[in-house]
Amino acid sequence: MLTLMLLGFALQTFVVLATPLAGPTVTLDSATVTGTTFGNVQKFLGIPFAQPPIGRLRFNQPQAVPAYNTSFSATAFGPSCPQQAIKLPLISGLPAEVVDFLVNSIYGFVFPADEDCLSINVVKPSSAGPTSKLPVVVWFFGGGFEIGGTSMYDGSSIVERSLELNEPVIYVSMNYRLAAWGFLASQEVKDAGLGNLGLQDQRLALRWVQKYIGAFGGDPSKVTIWGQSSGAISVALQMVTNGGNTESLFRAGFMESGSPIPVRDITNGQKYYDQIVADTGCSGSSDTLECLREVPFNTLKSAVDNTPSIFAYQSLNLAWFPRVDGIFLKDDPQKLVQAGQVAAIPIVNGDCDDEGTLFSLSSLNVTTQEALATYIQTEFLLDASTVDVNELLSVYPADITQGSPFDTSILNAITPEFKRIAAIMGDAAFQAPRRFFLQSVSGKQNVWSYLNKRLKSLPILGSAHTTDLLNVYGKYSIPITGGGDMVDYLVRFVATLNPNGNTGINWPQYTTANPNMLQFNDGLIPLSLSLDNYRVAAINYTTQLLLKHPL
Ligand SMILES: *[C@@H]1O[C@H](CO)[C@@H](O)[C@H](O)[C@H]1NC(C)=O
Ligand SMILES: *[C@@H]1O[C@H](CO)[C@@H](O)[C@H](O)[C@H]1NC(C)=O
Ligand SMILES: *[C@@H]1O[C@H](CO)[C@@H](O)[C@H](O)[C@H]1NC(C)=O
Repeated sequence: MLTLMLLGFALQTFVVLATPLAGPTVTLDSATVTGTTFGNVQKFLGIPFAQPPIGRLRFNQPQAVPAYNTSFSATAFGPSCPQQAIKLPLISGLPAEVVDFLVNSIYGFVFPADEDCLSINVVKPSSAGPTSKLPVVVWFFGGGFEIGGTSMYDGSSIVERSLELNEPVIYVSMNYRLAAWGFLASQEVKDAGLGNLGLQDQRLALRWVQKYIGAFGGDPSKVTIWGQSSGAISVALQMVTNGGNTESLFRAGFMESGSPIPVRDITNGQKYYDQIVADTGCSGSSDTLECLREVPFNTLKSAVDNTPSIFAYQSLNLAWFPRVDGIFLKDDPQKLVQAGQVAAIPIVNGDCDDEGTLFSLSSLNVTTQEALATYIQTEFLLDASTVDVNELLSVYPADITQGSPFDTSILNAITPEFKRIAAIMGDAAFQAPRRFFLQSVSGKQNVWSYLNKRLKSLPILGSAHTTDLLNVYGKYSIPITGGGDMVDYLVRFVATLNPNGNTGINWPQYTTANPNMLQFNDGLIPLSLSLDNYRVAAINYTTQLLLKHPL
């Protein structure tokens, strides 16, 4: 009996497999693209939006795809762009929860990668068709401009929730080049006009959305760009490029843990460029950039893997990240904000409470004030005076009860300087740029902000960088699925340019007079309101210092 049942099951399976799947289709130019249906949503994954950035297109501007003229199936994510090897800071003695968090974070995920990686994904309500004109949200993943990919983020929970809220939206995500492939930096790169290619990839993907999202039921005039960490920084940089002219590619921005960052000229990446030129055997070449284009992928990959990653001693002073190239970024992004060269669109920009803890596990051997002063001067603020650094250390005192994770009293002080370094890192890279940005643009456009204080009880890390991903994509373990309570605000913001509606609490705008924040809490009161009025003197000092000494 059992055997017969199993046989019957096997036969049925065979029959199902033998029948071609009749998936949903869209027409792009003269091609039919077949996706997959999951209940109320349909997914079209891994669609190439640019010519493969390989061969002569390695280290070159991304090129649009010619008109699609061959039908294809779009049922699986494309490979991620090449990833830089990252060694997690799994120091001995870490509590199991912390190990679990690191291993299951975006930094621990294994992204299948290939140099031919420029693909885009569309997740839409099944009911949406070419006349639907739905608002669109475009996701820029994070990973320190060194790692990451779209395959980890399943947008269907967001589309599902948008249907429940009766505010249907379409979700789009794209891969962009990372590490050296996306952010090569040197005099040679500057002369060739080939800086910030990862950001150029994103811009090209936004042009693809303009051209093709209508076929899926999207309205190209209602695009919100949204990202986390380096993805949020990317959103901010899309807002300050081109003098702040969006070219109507997007009408709003949602930034989670990332704002316009203080960076200097692209020639400041020269030492990493020279390092990979040497390690790939290109030193003798009269055209090192062309030589790098021609070296075998594995040779280049090993050379890139030898450069410092986000968990190296220098941590957030990244080897590969956006810099002022004179084309995509004409100046330090913070100076562009000051000059008003920033898109005047509605924005949301928030942070986690303890942004810096994750990035302070790499410098645990810095255990005295003297060593910390040296660390700051040799690894971050390279031309800051001793007076400046001492002033910074006076506004971030040695008192462990004032360090990060904040509000954890004497807990989590795994070294005498850990919590202090974490406070400085988190503010310098995230909180200070966010506050500077919001204070600069509020009054000129609609602005909302939030602070994520969830997971505060996570030992050592507290409400660490990336913990807010739970609020949108659900649990942080892999794969990220299921929705959190930030989704409702996101969906309404995308649909109506106002995050408020009939779920959650009312989220007032951020103004200089009333810098309101929506606060995400653990425990019985999941959402509350607070003000962006913490560490005023310290963050202000940090902002002034970074304006003088960009990275
Ligand atoms: C399809 O487009 C490609 C690229 O433009 C072109 O080389 C090819 O000839 C086209 N094929 C057909 C059948 O039109
Ligand atoms: C900490 O260790 C790194 C190597 O991982 C080393 O470069 C650095 O000098 C050390 N710092 C201190 C203060 O000992
Ligand atoms: C921030 O610092 C600047 C320059 O040092 C100063 O002029 C300003 O008053 C400070 N603002 C606050 C709020 O402390």
